[in-house]
Amino acid sequence: MIPCRRDLFDIPEDVAYFNCAYMSPLLRAAASAGDTGLRRKSQPWTISPADFFSDTEAARGLFSRLINASADDIAIIPSASYGLAVAAANMVVNPGQKILVLAEQFPSNVYPWRDLAREKGATLVTIERPEDGDWTAAIMQSIGADTAFAALPHCHWTDGGIIDLVEVSAALREVGAALVLDVTQSLGALPLDVQAVRPNFVSAACYKWLMGPYSIGFLYAAAQHQSGRPIEHNWASRANAEDFSGLVNYEDGFMPGARRFDVGERSNFALLPPAMEAIKQLLIWGVPEIQETLRTMTDDIAAKAAKMGLSSIPPKLRAGHFLGLRFPDGIPGGLADRLAAEKVYVSVRGDSMRVTPHVYNAQSDIEKLFHVLRTMV
Ligand SMILES: Cc1ncc(COP(=O)(O)O)c(C=O)c1O
Repeated sequence: MIPCRRDLFDIPEDVAYFNCAYMSPLLRAAASAGDTGLRRKSQPWTISPADFFSDTEAARGLFSRLINASADDIAIIPSASYGLAVAAANMVVNPGQKILVLAEQFPSNVYPWRDLAREKGATLVTIERPEDGDWTAAIMQSIGADTAFAALPHCHWTDGGIIDLVEVSAALREVGAALVLDVTQSLGALPLDVQAVRPNFVSAACYKWLMGPYSIGFLYAAAQHQSGRPIEHNWASRANAEDFSGLVNYEDGFMPGARRFDVGERSNFALLPPAMEAIKQLLIWGVPEIQETLRTMTDDIAAKAAKMGLSSIPPKLRAGHFLGLRFPDGIPGGLADRLAAEKVYVSVRGDSMRVTPHVYNAQSDIEKLFHVLRTMV
């Protein structure tokens, strides 16, 4: 168990923040790295051509450790949707084939597949929310000989319903189908091993469980896609880009690995340093330890909520860092705003009140959450 580390964040005593699924707070160290990074451009003569490549390589290396990949497998992207657009440009789907998504999946991981299905004459199949909460079983039943690929999260963004990606991926491979993942609502808090899951692409925005800033993310591309088609072309992802004076000797070759998928201006002097600082801290804590710590908190909150008549997915079917609470008669009007007025922060998605804590939450935050909730239910 990781002890409460509120001291590492800039969170006032009277704020009970249970909304990491919306946006994590920056670590003090990350905010400071961001300040320093932004200020570098005040003195551009101190930024050398080599600097365009040093942080990007360090960031790839750090991110790759989170998923058991190598730096070569990682591209730097600005959003989950950018990574999913790269995946969409590189996935093979034939007319009549099916692309699988979940009911109420996050839109950035639905729109590209709607578009691709329309373009290729394929069908987008939405797997309905299973009555018993078991997404893995529901997905397994939907996989068939006509499945091209599934585009999935690791846990559902509304209520934390978890998917056994090792099991699902093996079933997909058995029918020759592929797997694209958006792990924005899990990576950093829920362990993911790409050697075990063997996905084709994994996209993640940094601003939630990776504790980084907004507008930066990472894309994992499996080796078989690393000669694929980028969705934009920029100087820095081409071979010999380090030689600034030779950039007009246009290059057909790319930097090795997944670097060809990097977004333009990926040498982001302001956002990469805080993203790296955050990942360093996550690696120090350990993702399995974060999961266990947050599981203890959400189990405690779920048990207290059950006494008030609020239901949630059984612990073994939900990710430990993520709790969605449902009210017997639906979400009370203005719930999130009424809680926020008391400086208790949660979010409402669909018919679920998301309570998503992190290591900055103390027992007193949980007490405050229930103290305020009781006045409303
Ligand atoms: C599951 C999931 N994916 C992705 C995102 C963010 O998407 P993007 O980076 O495309 O804005 C969110 C934001 O809430 C999310 O919940």
